[in-house]
Amino acid sequence: MSARANRNAAHIARAIAVLNAGGLIGLPTETVYGLAADASNPLAVAKIFAAKGRPADHPVIVHLANAQQIRDWATDIPDAAWTLAAAFWPGPLTLILKRAPHVLDAVTGGQATVGLRVPSHPMAHAVLAGFAATRPGRPAGIAAPSANQFGRVSPTTAQHVRDEFGSAVELVLDGGACEVGIESTIIDCSAGTPRILRPGFINADAMAAALGDVLEGNPPEEPHPPTVLAKPAATSAATPRVSGSLDAHYAPRTPTIVAAGPEFAAALAAQGEKRIAVLSFSTTRVPNTRHWLASTQPSIYAHNLYSHLRAMDIAACDLILVEAPPQGPEWDGVNDRLRRAAHGSQFG
Ligand code: TXA
Ligand code: MG
Repeated sequence: MSARANRNAAHIARAIAVLNAGGLIGLPTETVYGLAADASNPLAVAKIFAAKGRPADHPVIVHLANAQQIRDWATDIPDAAWTLAAAFWPGPLTLILKRAPHVLDAVTGGQATVGLRVPSHPMAHAVLAGFAATRPGRPAGIAAPSANQFGRVSPTTAQHVRDEFGSAVELVLDGGACEVGIESTIIDCSAGTPRILRPGFINADAMAAALGDVLEGNPPEEPHPPTVLAKPAATSAATPRVSGSLDAHYAPRTPTIVAAGPEFAAALAAQGEKRIAVLSFSTTRVPNTRHWLASTQPSIYAHNLYSHLRAMDIAACDLILVEAPPQGPEWDGVNDRLRRAAHGSQFG
């Protein structure tokens, strides 16, 4: 083993020990860094909420080493969930399913459902598999919301996590910059037609294709429900709570405007002497601005988005101005996060 691999193995072993002792770790995943604790330990889960300043009724995702572990955490698992797990796990997709009886209320936010995800980041997988090996025959899951203060921009590097929590988190594993860069797609498979609760890298078209193929290949004996995915619904008492669906989520502290085409140019012109941090698709520089160049590739845009927002937020500017990306399923995740970032400010 190389010195680096040895060091990683030692960090992973320490992370598993911290989890088993009821502590918190910073866990790299392919989406964003998580603030992780043993999902079966109520005191450990409580530490996540305390560190983040997160309201107690907001559920957290349970991370697993493999899809077989779904059965340890959920009941009444529909075929659609197995199909999506087979198509997209390990990867940036969270399934909402009916909870198994033992799942802590602190994890589900007191709801009848639980969010489950098998991440693909090799370090996350090593921690999850190693953690499961320490408790054979018992459910082994790691509860992990994004490792940011409640309502703030999610972290995509180990340094972001240290910036958010300092010494409050015992150990931050450094798995490099997160590949995907925005949080997992969340799909509710707990009742009826699967419904997207939070868009992300795995988009509606990809999931509809995965579900459609299976239904075509395996004609059911009974008529089956439509394969089209239900559209995200406005939050109501009847829909599960998603803290990321709060309008002011993922917000920088600096007022933020997202504007398209001519409105973007007009917003730029209207700012007078204000110092502006600009994220745009054009390289044209404007006086009084600091400029970040946006990628026209949705996956690269997403990969850089939170690093850009964090950098723009500490650039001592009066305003963050973002040129709106195109519409379309592959931009849904990015547009959702930008809309929430802008909603956190008085400007829109
Ligand atoms: O990519 C991700 O999902 C990252 C990494 C660390 O895995 N995690 C993440 O966690 O974004 P968090 O807590 O920041 O966002 C998870 C969202 C929350 O908005 C929460 O409300 C929702 O998932 N959620 C969790 N369990 C749920 C449930 N049973 N029903 C509805 N929403 C749920
Ligand atoms: Mg979050």
